[in-house]
Amino acid sequence: MTQIVLGIESSCDETAAAIVDSDRNILSNIVLSQIEQHAPYGGVVPEIAARAHIEHLDRLIAEAMTEADVGFDDLDAVAATAGPGLIGGVMIGLVTAKAICTARNKPLIALNHLEAHALTARLTNDVPFPYLLLLVSGGHCQLISVSGLDQYTRLGTTLDDAVGEAFDKAAKMMGLGYPGGPLVEIAARDGDPARFDLPRPMKGRDNCDFSFSGLKTAVRRALDSLGDKVTDQDHADLCASFQYAVGDVLSDRTRRAMKLFEARHPGARRLVIAGGVAANKAIGERLSTVTADTGFDLIVPPPGLCTDNAAMVAWAGVERLQQGLTSEMSISARARWPLDSLAAAKPFTGAKA
Ligand code: KG4
Ligand code: ZN
Repeated sequence: MTQIVLGIESSCDETAAAIVDSDRNILSNIVLSQIEQHAPYGGVVPEIAARAHIEHLDRLIAEAMTEADVGFDDLDAVAATAGPGLIGGVMIGLVTAKAICTARNKPLIALNHLEAHALTARLTNDVPFPYLLLLVSGGHCQLISVSGLDQYTRLGTTLDDAVGEAFDKAAKMMGLGYPGGPLVEIAARDGDPARFDLPRPMKGRDNCDFSFSGLKTAVRRALDSLGDKVTDQDHADLCASFQYAVGDVLSDRTRRAMKLFEARHPGARRLVIAGGVAANKAIGERLSTVTADTGFDLIVPPPGLCTDNAAMVAWAGVERLQQGLTSEMSISARARWPLDSLAAAKPFTGAKA
């Protein structure tokens, strides 16, 4: 029988509600971006985000239900992001889900936001387990072996900034605006990727980890070297050089992870890219060269489902519901929550969970 799940996402600066069914239909998918409220500050301000979630979430849920033409009684469960993320926002989404579940006697599914990103390709492309996942977002940069639901092994992670964060910081330095990723991608189209000689942190290392802070510093130095008169062409060249360097690093780290993944799962050659940075076409092209070389299939969900949304949360809820993996009402919101619980933050390295 088809099951229907309401998904709620509020872990960062998108307030979102969606209805998805177990036949992979997205019945509604409403995302309200708070970009304009945060743009003057050049980044997400947690208090502003939390207040905006409170203001809009109830209305967005009502809209999602109306658009999908379902009532609360039609729902089989309510899924909400319970972490990791900005704690105020996560609490608002989770408490709202708990309220609906309590009032309507429905199962609650408290989700890890990273799991929702990780499973999106199963909603959009019906990808079978196992697969290698490159999760590239504003808060995370990880390579994960996804063997099944709740079976995630982290092969590599960032030691400092996430890749989306690096895009955002580079854009901020150049005064391009916020969020920086899409703006860097647009500016880079008219730029020369060979003009600036930027570093490729971690490239060639005998692990699958990432580091972007050195690249960020190199962008700062390159800007300083240009003096006071920085032209649009300078910005375009720097964006192109930066994006190319990021592409190099992601390609190198992914190639290494593919070897580890193949040793675990011989013959299972699938690479899924998820998270906001997966919306970047130039990075996607670089990675398609890697998959063409290695004989992996490349699966990238559509851009609107790569960036934060509630359809991915509802879908992960469907998958959990089908396995009977529902949550206790006592579950708490978590600011930090590694997807691979065995891969605790690497001691003394600063590795992010
Ligand atoms: O997954 P997401 O929507 O939110 C997080 O969970 O972080 O990712 C947002 C991040 C931001 O850092 C944004 O700049 C980056 O993804 N991003 C991009 C692009 N679109 C979004 N980075 C590079 N190129 C893009 N086209
Ligand atoms: Zn995300």
